[in-house]
Amino acid sequence: MQGLAIMGHGVVGSGVAELFFKNRASIQARAGEALELRHVLDLRDFADLPYSDVFTKDFEQILNDPAVAVVAEVMGGLTPAYEYTKRLLEAGKSVVTSNKELVAAKGAELLALAKARNVNYLFEASVGGGIPVIRPISQCLAANTITEIAGILNGTTNYIMTKMITDGTPFADALAEAQQKGYAERDPSADVDGHDACRKICILASLAYGRHVYPEQVHTEGIGAITADDVACARAFGGAVKLIGRTRLQANGRLQCMVAPMLVPGESPLCHVDGVFNAVLVRGDATGDVMFYGRGAGKWPTASAVVADMIDCVKHLKARKYLFWDEGAPDYVADWTDETMALFVRAVVSDPAAAESELAALFGQVDYPQGQLPAGQTAFITPAMPIARARALLAQWQTGKPVNVFCVCD
Ligand code: HSE
Repeated sequence: MQGLAIMGHGVVGSGVAELFFKNRASIQARAGEALELRHVLDLRDFADLPYSDVFTKDFEQILNDPAVAVVAEVMGGLTPAYEYTKRLLEAGKSVVTSNKELVAAKGAELLALAKARNVNYLFEASVGGGIPVIRPISQCLAANTITEIAGILNGTTNYIMTKMITDGTPFADALAEAQQKGYAERDPSADVDGHDACRKICILASLAYGRHVYPEQVHTEGIGAITADDVACARAFGGAVKLIGRTRLQANGRLQCMVAPMLVPGESPLCHVDGVFNAVLVRGDATGDVMFYGRGAGKWPTASAVVADMIDCVKHLKARKYLFWDEGAPDYVADWTDETMALFVRAVVSDPAAAESELAALFGQVDYPQGQLPAGQTAFITPAMPIARARALLAQWQTGKPVNVFCVCD
């Protein structure tokens, strides 16, 4: 018999407890032993639940219970989750989490602590909700050099943009729907401003390349500046604007890592990922492109990944798992404007012929869409070049005025 505990009984925590009781027989069979949920930590009262007897408001009860071997930290945020996780790992208990904010900020330190105590710190639920992506990158693709990862990593923003594009739903209504469905963070600006996707690409980049990438090192934009005209111009190119987290290893050993709305061409599988669905495209030198797709947010998909990690911990109580990365460094992440990418530009022009000929002189080959553009506007895609160079050329353009500029995610 192994004892379990859950810290936090919100959307995810309640899902973890309910899933545990619903599938207890098969979960125990997979873990190879009987399991007991001994504590659920939450400051609120849940007197009517069938497992109300296991609730506690006192973290020390979990810490000091020798029967608890594995704890799910699903509180979110850094405080007190960071301190609690450290104390649990120091006490020799394995911890699993969906808390991407904590893993992105303190992952290297907590993984080192888990290693020193010969216990596990697992976080499959921290990226992509129910989609298996942490294990595949660290285990199944381990023989590859991963050249690039690009993903739709935030279900809330993908849901909002899909609703706005396909149904014309106003932003605020689409956000309210995402919140009501349990997709959004407690503070939805973490979703809308790109911080949640930033934390997730930090975790993937740290995992893929072995050194910690900190959120403050990553250029991050949200979806707030995307307009209906941007969407229409993207459609005219046969693509869509999506919030993308992307990382790539440069030949000089430094990393590119950014989060921004990008034009995703129609031939990319990422273009067709809609609603709350997430997708992570991993480019390996041996595998080529591999894509992971599924529900990236919500109670049950996230609980699925948390409970699976708890099972894995029970099966590996005396053998550490493979997850690890080293501390990062201030110069590890390159300036995002050094990255070589094509830019998708929406602009206003009064004399289209003059604007085109000036663009040709500035950039050489520029691509224009087949589809219809909003009146008085043009849209074009520059050749791939360092982003800083393309922006400098755009600043010289006299016969047109860029309104919105996006990288192209190919
Ligand atoms: N708020 C997050 C999202 C939840 O919308 O993707 C899952 O991490």
